[in-house]
Amino acid sequence: MDDRTVAVHEGRACGKVILFGEHAVVYGEPAIATGIARGAFAQVSPCDAPSTLQIHSALGEPLRGDGSEIESAFHELSDACGVRQNVRASVALDLPVRAGLGSSAALGVSLARAMLSVAGAECTLQRVIDAALVWERVFHSNPSGIDVHAAAHGGVIAFERAKGMEPLGIGYELLLCIGHCGRGSSTKWMVNKVAQFRARQPDLTDQIMHEIGALVRAARVALASGDLPTLGKLMNLNHTLLSSLSVSTDALDRLCGIARAQGALGAKLTGAGGGGCVVALAPAHENEVLGAWEAEGFKGFVTGVAG
Ligand code: PMV
Repeated sequence: MDDRTVAVHEGRACGKVILFGEHAVVYGEPAIATGIARGAFAQVSPCDAPSTLQIHSALGEPLRGDGSEIESAFHELSDACGVRQNVRASVALDLPVRAGLGSSAALGVSLARAMLSVAGAECTLQRVIDAALVWERVFHSNPSGIDVHAAAHGGVIAFERAKGMEPLGIGYELLLCIGHCGRGSSTKWMVNKVAQFRARQPDLTDQIMHEIGALVRAARVALASGDLPTLGKLMNLNHTLLSSLSVSTDALDRLCGIARAQGALGAKLTGAGGGGCVVALAPAHENEVLGAWEAEGFKGFVTGVAG
């Protein structure tokens, strides 16, 4: 095949922040997430040589984890997209991995978009989501689907396993501070940890999940009316409930405490916990929060809603 005439098929996906409801969403409760501008950009070209996938992290992080898992996820995604030829695929990833910001879903969605284009298939939102979920299941076995929906759709979304996704147009700028505790974690492991907690204490766990569901419903109302102080309080409450499920860590609690001390209306861990990131809502205090995190050795950034 002549390299100069080979078509390059491209696909983008955003990263995500879960604003409310992680873990409880696995058990059927609603959750709210938002797309963020950092994400993944895939380029795929048909080729004669055996198929390859390379992932380049803009943050210079090595992609840890089982290489064969990535390989088998890529094969399954290729099949799901109906690609019947060899391809050379590369993805530029602009998100920290294993950090609760949806890096794996962003990889899956960007690749699904490019691979559906290679197959000449119609790139509908549903087809992209279905193919990316095939990829995601290799890593997470029982994903609720919120990451893939947020990465594919972007914007602020409500998600519930039984009802799927509902876009929530909020009509104002929502800035979020994201702080990384410096250590990654495994979503699969953390979801299993909660399942074990539930096996030991089913009534207590279900009660916590219902309380998270109730605060997500309240957060939806506060988001719609732009009531940021209430949103902040609900973030703090959500963090407390997640801590009672044992998915927070000292470093995540510390990041939340620093943000609140700098004037954040609220802060919580985001994603699976056990490591990774927190999200803080600190209107007009974003720089103070980032500076205080940095002074304590934590990296952070500010992001708006994107996608
Ligand atoms: O850590 P992340 O970005 O993979 O977020 C996972 C969110 C969970 O609710 C913990 C799991 C899920 O599948 O919804």
